Amino acid sequence: MIYELRGATKNYGNGGGVVRAVHDVNLSIDEGELVVVAGPSGSGKTTLLQLLGALDRASSGEVLFEGRDLAKTSDSDLTELRLGTIGFVFQQFNLIPTLTAVQNVEVALAPSRPSAAARHERATSLLESVGLAHRRDHLPSQLSGGEQQRIAIARALANAPRVVLADEPTGNLDTETGDEIVELLASLASEGKQTVIIVTHDVGVAKRAPRVVRMRDGQLLQA
Ligand SMILES: Nc1ncnc2c1ncn2[C@@H]1O[C@H](COP(=O)(O)OP(=O)(O)OP(=O)(O)O)[C@@H](O)[C@H]1O
Ligand SMILES: [Mg+2]
Repeated sequence: MIYELRGATKNYGNGGGVVRAVHDVNLSIDEGELVVVAGPSGSGKTTLLQLLGALDRASSGEVLFEGRDLAKTSDSDLTELRLGTIGFVFQQFNLIPTLTAVQNVEVALAPSRPSAAARHERATSLLESVGLAHRRDHLPSQLSGGEQQRIAIARALANAPRVVLADEPTGNLDTETGDEIVELLASLASEGKQTVIIVTHDVGVAKRAPRVVRMRDGQLLQA
């Protein structure tokens, strides 16, 4: 079990203005699993992903990562977890517009690789693994949305994370390109043995996953 959530709850605001973004969620995820979390806008998907990614702490309940309660983990340990163990993929790609494809991947490697040459080699092989070595010297503006998302996935894989968390990774893509991106993410779980969690409101994405959990109003409908 890589994740175990017990009564995980995240409230925003206080007093009369409390939003129960994630409410009493119980969820277990195995290492190497591919899980899609599906739900309408505002149902708490991004908030849940932030709890899983140690980007935020639960208001109450437990979010256990390999048995460790993230709410009780020090800031420096959480930072290490985010850098070395978890890779993030976002709807907006979040590439640096002035850097080429390969440079966008290299910056994610910066803290962990000794030499510029070693970083370049690793970044190039990551681009190869997402089928984009031939575009490595292109700027994001010179790439299609699907290509930009592949770069973002290569960047997320930079430090060989054991978990990949994707928030609406197909949200800016047409259906066919989105399918390719989901396939690429799914292959990480089937071939790379990485744990992959995708949140989406796209029912097409949900259809492709072996396991789908549904959210509504901050709660899980089925686990
Ligand atoms: N920083 C915040 N402060 C206050 N309320 C917030 C904050 N972030 C999210 N919320 C609220 O929490 C609820 C869940 O938001 P969340 O972003 O997790 O939903 P979502 O399922 O990701 O939606 P979408 O599909 O639109 O991205 C919403 O009602 C939202 O308005
Ligand atoms: Mg969201």
